[in-house]
Amino acid sequence: MARILITSALPYINGVKHLGNLAGSMLPADVYARAMRLLGHDVLYICATDEHGTPAELAAQEAGISVSEYCDKMHDAQKQAGANFKMSYDYFGRSSAPSNHELTQHFAQILEDNGLIEERVSKQVYSNADGRFLPDRYVEGTCPNCDFEKARGDQCDNCGKLLDPVELINPYSSVSGSHDVEVRETNHLYLKQSAMSDRLRAWVDKAEGWPPLATSIAYKWLDEGLLDRAITRDLKWGIPVTDKTGNRRKGFENKVFYVWFDAPIEYIAATQDWATETGGNWESWWRTDKGADDVHYVQFMGKDNVAFHTLSFPTTIIGSGEPWKLVDSLKAFNWVTWYGGKFSTSNKRGVFMDQAIEIAPSDYWRWHLMANAPESDDAAFTWEEFRAGINSDLANVLGNFVNRITKYTVSKFDGKLPSGGEPGKAEAALISELETRIPAMIEFYETREFRKAMAETRAIWAAGNDYLTQAAPWSAYKTDVDKAAIGVRYGLNLAALFGIIAQPIIPDAAEKILDALGIPQENRTWNFGDYSGIKDLVDALPHGLEIRPPDMLFHKIEETDVEAWSLRFGGPSV
Ligand code: 2FM
Ligand code: ZN
Repeated sequence: MARILITSALPYINGVKHLGNLAGSMLPADVYARAMRLLGHDVLYICATDEHGTPAELAAQEAGISVSEYCDKMHDAQKQAGANFKMSYDYFGRSSAPSNHELTQHFAQILEDNGLIEERVSKQVYSNADGRFLPDRYVEGTCPNCDFEKARGDQCDNCGKLLDPVELINPYSSVSGSHDVEVRETNHLYLKQSAMSDRLRAWVDKAEGWPPLATSIAYKWLDEGLLDRAITRDLKWGIPVTDKTGNRRKGFENKVFYVWFDAPIEYIAATQDWATETGGNWESWWRTDKGADDVHYVQFMGKDNVAFHTLSFPTTIIGSGEPWKLVDSLKAFNWVTWYGGKFSTSNKRGVFMDQAIEIAPSDYWRWHLMANAPESDDAAFTWEEFRAGINSDLANVLGNFVNRITKYTVSKFDGKLPSGGEPGKAEAALISELETRIPAMIEFYETREFRKAMAETRAIWAAGNDYLTQAAPWSAYKTDVDKAAIGVRYGLNLAALFGIIAQPIIPDAAEKILDALGIPQENRTWNFGDYSGIKDLVDALPHGLEIRPPDMLFHKIEETDVEAWSLRFGGPSV
C-alpha cells in the first residue's frame, strides 16, 4: 500500500469554472484519487479556491460587494459545484485562510534569510483616478512596436510583443478608463529564480513520471533563462507582506503577495486545515523529516500552470532549505476547446459547471470528458460527440447490458442468480479477454493515461456484450435451462464487474448497479492481487443471490436536446 498525495490546480475564485477547467485538473485528479483508493492505497486529495489577485478584486467590484464577501459566496458556489460533480476531495480549502497567510509569510521570510528574496525599485503605472498602481494587464495604450491603440500592458495582441506597461504610449487605466495616469517608482520583493536555475535543472533532470508536455515546458523556461520575479503587488486584498516582528513591512503597507506566490503554498496550508478538522497528521504528508519521504505526490493541472509548478513553486520549496515534500509525478493537460475555439462567458459559448449539471447528470460529463481527455493534444467538445458517446458507451453498451440481464433474471429465474451449467468455449474466451484487459486498465490508471484507461473500460463492457450475444441465454432457455443458467450467471457477475470498474468514472451509476446486485461495500474494491483470480470473478457471486433491476441507468440524448443546447450554449448551428 502506498501513500499518495494528490492536488489539483486551485480554481480561481472569480466565477464558476467551465468544463475545460474541470477536465484539465479537478476531474482527472478525482478519477485518479478514486482509482487509487479502490486499489487500497492511502490517498489524500486536496484542493481549494485560489482567492487572491486582481481578478478577484474586480469581480467583487462588479458584483457590488466586498472582496471577502465575494470570496465567501464564490467559495461556497465552487464547493457546491464540486460536490455536484462528485469530487471526492478530502479537503477543499481556501487560499485566503489564516493558515495560508502564516505559511506564505514564513516562506517569504526564510527565502529572504537565504538570500533568495530582495527588495528592488521598479517603475509602475499609477492611476490617480483609481487611486492605485495598476496591474500590468489593466494598463492599456498604444503599442510602441506597431502603433496598435489597444495594446495591453503585458502584451500587444496585435503584434504579439511582450511589453512593459511603462512603455505604452498614451496609457490609460482599463479599470476606470481614466487617462490621468503617471509612472511612479515603487518597491517590490523579487524572488531570485535565476539564482536557483542550476538546482532546478538538476531536479527536473531527475524527474520521473512527468509527461513530455510538462518536461518540455520546464526545459523551455530553463533554457531561455529564468528571470527573477516580483512576488508582491499593489493590492489591498491578499496576504500582507510582513517583517520579522509580524508587522507590515515598511514601505509595503499597501502591498500583498502576488497570487501565484501564495496559491501553491495553499496546497500545504489546506492540508494543515484538513488535519485540524479531522485530527489527521499534515506533517506526515508534507515534511520529509516527519514521514513524508514515503509519500508519492501527484499534481494535476492545465498546461498554462506547468511553469509555476515545475519552477516557481519548487523555487519556494527548495530555496527554503527546509525538508518539504516536492512533487513526484505531474500530469498536465492541453485544452478542451469549444468546437475548436475558446470557451467564452461573454459570447455565451461553452458550458459552465453549474449549467452543465442542470442539463445532464454528472456521470455523463465525467465519462465524456475523461474518455476524450485532452492528453496529447487539445480536444474539441461538440454536442454531437457528447450525444454519440453517451448514447453508445453508457446507454447502449453498459446500461442495456445491465438492464437486460437483470430483467431477464427476474422474468425467468425468479430474480435469483442461477446455478447449473458448465462453462465452455464462450466462457473461456471471455476470461482470457478479461485477463488481458483488467491488468491493462489498472496500469493505465497507475500511469494516469486516462483516455486509454477509459478505452479499456469500454472494451471490457463490450467484451461482456459480445459474450452475452454468443451465450444467448434467451435462446438456450427454450431447450436447455442449464445452458441458459450459465449465461445468466456469468452475465450477472459481469454486470457486477462492470459496476466495480466503473466506480472512479461514473460513481452514481456504478453505485446503482452494485446496489441492485446486492454487492456489499467490502466487495467493491479493486482487490485483483496478482490477477490470478480473474477467472473466478465471473462466478464470484453466491448462487441464489437475490437481485433486482436497477432504476433507469442512462437516458438517451435526443437530437432535439442537442438542438436546444446548441441554441442555449452555442455550437455550430448558432
Ligand atoms: O490557473 C488557475 O486557475 C490558477 N488558479 C491555478 C492555481 S494552482 C496553484 F498553484 F494554486
Ligand atoms: Zn504591437
